[in-house]
Order: sequence, then C-alpha cells, then structure tokens
Amino acid sequence: MISEIKKHLEIVAKFNSSNEKEIESFRINYIGRKGVLTNFFNEFKNVPKSSKKEYGSLLNNLKKDVINKINSLKLKKQSSLSDSKIGDYSRPGFPIKSGSRHPISIIKSRIIDIFSQIGFSLSYGPEIEDDWHNFSALNIPKFHPARDMQDTFFIQTNPDYLLRTHTSSVQIRYMEKNKPPIRTISPGRVFRNEVISSRSHCIFHQIEGLYIDKNVSFIDLKETLSYFTKSLFGNSKIRLRPSYFPFTEPSAEVDIYWGLKTETDHRITKGTGWLEIMGCGMVDPNVLENCKIDPEKYSGYAFGLGIERIAMLLYQIDDIRLFYENDIRFLNQFKSTL
Ligand code: DAH
Repeated sequence: MISEIKKHLEIVAKFNSSNEKEIESFRINYIGRKGVLTNFFNEFKNVPKSSKKEYGSLLNNLKKDVINKINSLKLKKQSSLSDSKIGDYSRPGFPIKSGSRHPISIIKSRIIDIFSQIGFSLSYGPEIEDDWHNFSALNIPKFHPARDMQDTFFIQTNPDYLLRTHTSSVQIRYMEKNKPPIRTISPGRVFRNEVISSRSHCIFHQIEGLYIDKNVSFIDLKETLSYFTKSLFGNSKIRLRPSYFPFTEPSAEVDIYWGLKTETDHRITKGTGWLEIMGCGMVDPNVLENCKIDPEKYSGYAFGLGIERIAMLLYQIDDIRLFYENDIRFLNQFKSTL
C-alpha cells in the first residue's frame, strides 16, 4: 500500500495540463467522493500498526500535493487568460469619469477672484475658536443673544472653546498680527446650532472682508460693494439698510436689486424686487482698540456674506441641504474652470 501511495505522489508531481477538462478529471479522480484519496483513507484501518505512521504521513502529503497542483494549474490558466486580454490592443478603453468642483467652491473662488483684483489678500483662521476671537474682541458682550447656547456649539470638555459661529473671528486674528493698511478677505466654514431645513444648516460657509486704513469712509464701503455685486451678479444697484451688528458702527444690511420680471423673482424677493445678500459696517472703534489699532488714526469697514446664500441665488437652488448630500446628479451640473 505504501508503495502505491509513493507511485501516486510521482504521478501527481508530473501531472501538467492547461486543459480545463483534464484538470477537472484529475481533480475528480483524486478528491472525488469515490476517488483515490478516499480509497486510501478507507484503507487506513487495515494498515498494520507498525506502518500506520508512515502511511498516514505519506497520505497527507499526497492530499496536500493534489490540492496544490489543482490550485496552481487553475491559477496559471487564469493568468494566461488575462494576459491575452491585456495583449488585445483593439479592445475599447474604459471610460474615465471626470469630477467637477463643488458649487460652493466655484462661488468661493469667484468671490476671491473679484476681491483679489482690487488688492485684497486671503487670510484664514481656525474653526475651533476661543471666546475672545469669536465674541469678546468683536464687542459682543457676555450676555448678548449671539452667545446663546442655542446658537453656538461649545466644546464640551472646555467651554472656553467653541466652533466659530462666523468668520468675523478672522478679522481679530488678522488685526492682531498685521498693522494697517489692511485689506483682506477670509473664507471659511462656520457652525451654528440650528435646526436643519431647506433654508438653514448647522455647517455653512462665509466670507469676511476687512479694510483698515487712514480716512476710510462709508462711501469707500459702498463703492467696493457696488463693484463686487456688479462683478458677481452683473448688477451694481444696491441699497444699504440700517441694521445692527456689535462689531460695526454704523451697521447695514446690503440688498441687491434683483428685479421683478418672473414669478420666481416675485417669490424670492417677496414682491419687493430687493434681496438681502450680506451684512456690513464701519469697524467699531472698540474692536480696533481690542486689536491695539488706534481708532483716532485709523478707520475701516467690514462685511460678511454667506456663500450658500449667494450660490442659491446664482444657481437658483431652493434647498440648502442639496449642497451637503453629495448626490452626484446634483454635483455633476456644475462645471467651471475656476
Ligand atoms: N458676522 C456676521 C454674521 O455672521 C456677518 C457680518 C455682518 C460680518 C456685518 C461683518 C459685518 O463683518 O460688518 O452674520
């Protein structure tokens, strides 16, 4: 019996084929239900005790060799198949899908482009802010409603830190590090503890603008904003409505004249033809002082706008949540070289 197994070990070692049928019948012959291996295993009980050890170990080797042989022959066959596929240069290529920029990135780049043409630099600040930069230095007193727990995400382990609620915090950081003249815009993500709906989301994007120099007046602010709206919307007709922000005095809200041509125009402007697009004002002397800039010598203006709002207007999108859902059918519609 032992010599029989040895014979099969040799046969298995020599066996070679690339024919699928031959490999399959080799497999059935050896490991099929009535195959060679089953027979040898059934014979085990009849092997004399003295040979059991050698018989068992040879039989195990035979089983291992058979399985290895089948696997290696199958593998060889597969790789020769794929080799021949690669070699077929007449096969059509695989189409490569190109991505597109996110609409928020497109609008952000356009706004940066518009302001960089009139000498504004780009600046950034951290998304996790401290109380000073997000609130105190911006003249937002301790019990101001903007600090309300419902609006702000505080860091649970250390409530001195929070997720910035606006990019105005970058104004402070910039003024602490740079002396006037200052012209900078600061794009970035901001966070508010809001109920998510078609009109509001708890993460969105803003761009803050800051201009500080000698003799800066409200007229400079208005002219800059007209230039901006003309460049972005092709329309420079704006109006400034008195408003309140703790960090500017006086403060205003900027409306752009949208017109009343279509039904949609009526709906989005509530029948007035005017649309609010941003907040602005002259930097409050307290804010300048907080940043060690002398308000007797310098003055300046600031403005802040929401990128989502602008993108919704320009692309006529009526649900803010679409920006964050990563639906390829939505995203594919925005192509831009910017
Ligand atoms: N920080 C304001 C907000 O989050 C936007 C803003 C308004 C920024 C007026 C300004 C400004 O710089 O002057 O709603």
